[in-house]
Amino acid sequence: MKLSVIGTGYVGLVSGVCLASKGHDVICVDVNEEKVSSINNRNPPIHEEGLPELLRSVVDTRKFRATSNLTEALDFCEAVIIAVGTPTTDGKLDLTYLVQAARQIGAYLNSTNKFLSVIVKSTVLPTTTDVVVRQAIAEASGGKTSQFGLGMNPEFLREGNAISDFNFPDRIVLGFEDFKTGEVLSRIYEPWNADKVFVNTRTAEMIKYANNCFLALQISAANELANLAAKLGGIDFMDVFRGVTLDKRWNPIRNDGSRTEPEILTYLVPGPGFGGSCFPKDVQAIRAQGHDNGLPMEILDGILSVNERQPEQVTKILEAHFGTLSGKNILLLGLAFKPQTDDVRESASIRISEELLAYKTILVAHDPIATENFIKLSGVQTSTIKFTQDWKTEVANADAIVIATRWEEYKALPGLKVAGKVVFDARRLLSPKDFPSSTYFSIGRRV
Ligand code: NAD
Ligand code: UGA
Repeated sequence: MKLSVIGTGYVGLVSGVCLASKGHDVICVDVNEEKVSSINNRNPPIHEEGLPELLRSVVDTRKFRATSNLTEALDFCEAVIIAVGTPTTDGKLDLTYLVQAARQIGAYLNSTNKFLSVIVKSTVLPTTTDVVVRQAIAEASGGKTSQFGLGMNPEFLREGNAISDFNFPDRIVLGFEDFKTGEVLSRIYEPWNADKVFVNTRTAEMIKYANNCFLALQISAANELANLAAKLGGIDFMDVFRGVTLDKRWNPIRNDGSRTEPEILTYLVPGPGFGGSCFPKDVQAIRAQGHDNGLPMEILDGILSVNERQPEQVTKILEAHFGTLSGKNILLLGLAFKPQTDDVRESASIRISEELLAYKTILVAHDPIATENFIKLSGVQTSTIKFTQDWKTEVANADAIVIATRWEEYKALPGLKVAGKVVFDARRLLSPKDFPSSTYFSIGRRV
């Protein structure tokens, strides 16, 4: 099937390349010429495992290309997928890019008799596709409402795992408003053997937000209880969580009496809070929609306020240990909001480094791939931070080493000269046993 994708960010580019690798013919469109030419030169502008190889193969077999010419892409395709950014601005969903893309599609339809299925993949609040997008296309097309269909296909991929998540999804949610687009969606995802949930577009939109809110809720609830466990002492919150997940409502007992280890146990770890381009913005956006509809949205308030305070755990615990943090040499390991990505949006390391600077520490920071983005995009006063690519050498000068992102390479820390130093393993990458002669802190456990 001939498909176009608008937006070549994490979602647009990964979707385009994966759809092409499954046999579709795909054109990706972006207003950013630099991204377009880098993609056509087979250099992905984002860091994702497996993406360079897959991009090279679909470009070489002519199943995929990028362009900045929207008309060319719309002439080419039977369905267009919108995957532009939907940021949260001042706590509210900002539909500027989405409405712009919808109006551009409408303007195109105004000049042709072609029918297009328009499928929203960006994360948008319930009612956006069937009200806002419909209206934007209808107006710009001069009222050609029978010339387009509407679909909503939310994306659940995680950065750092994007290709694998897209190719092996837990389920595919297919929302549609007209039969033709429902059928188009079925054909797009025919090569996928996952559970498929067919619903209307506003249900599809709500599934996406509910999914992110439930995950963010689990993280904030775990962090809040983990802070209490650490205060009381003698409790490791990971033991608590293992005990909880043996309840058969979380982890069913099979007929033969056995169980599988619940996936959530590999995901949920007490830490300095969630970041990234999705959880913080999505919880805020749907909370604002609730408020606009006269609802209090107290649980969502709680998720966000626990998360807002959570990075303070690091400085609070360090300060209590040292008495004062002023003048202490701190080595901060990890700037990305999670491993396997160079994305620093809303990273907990932003708040942690701001606080460490406010406490007048001497800060040295490392990340395998996200340093450049951190300097450009974090908003932190980075002129007072020393960035290093040789973190192992810096260990010798540090009074405390803080692991803020679960990068595998930091597992080498116990083999270095850490005796007598403080190790704050904020992501629980390692364990107290790895540091017999250091002072070891983590979140949710008092050692
Ligand atoms: P992004 O900011 O990385 O990329 C968006 C791209 O769209 C940019 O390259 C921008 O130049 C382009 N663009 C904007 N307006 C355009 C237009 N009119 N025409 C052509 N190109 C245009 O965004 P992203 O991280 O890929 O997220 C996209 C959407 O997917 C968001 O709604 C996000 O919430 C959702 N989402 C993201 C993830 C993730 O892990 N990043 C996962 C699931 C869902
Ligand atoms: C998240 C969801 O997991 C995806 O399903 C969804 O598609 C995506 O948001 C989205 O809507 O864009 P992502 O943000 O890439 O994906 O990463 P996660 O692995 O979920 O981690 C999010 C943040 O939560 C990270 O900062 C991570 O460090 C943090 N986290 C995770 C915790 O602080 N504690 C935990 O126990 C687990």
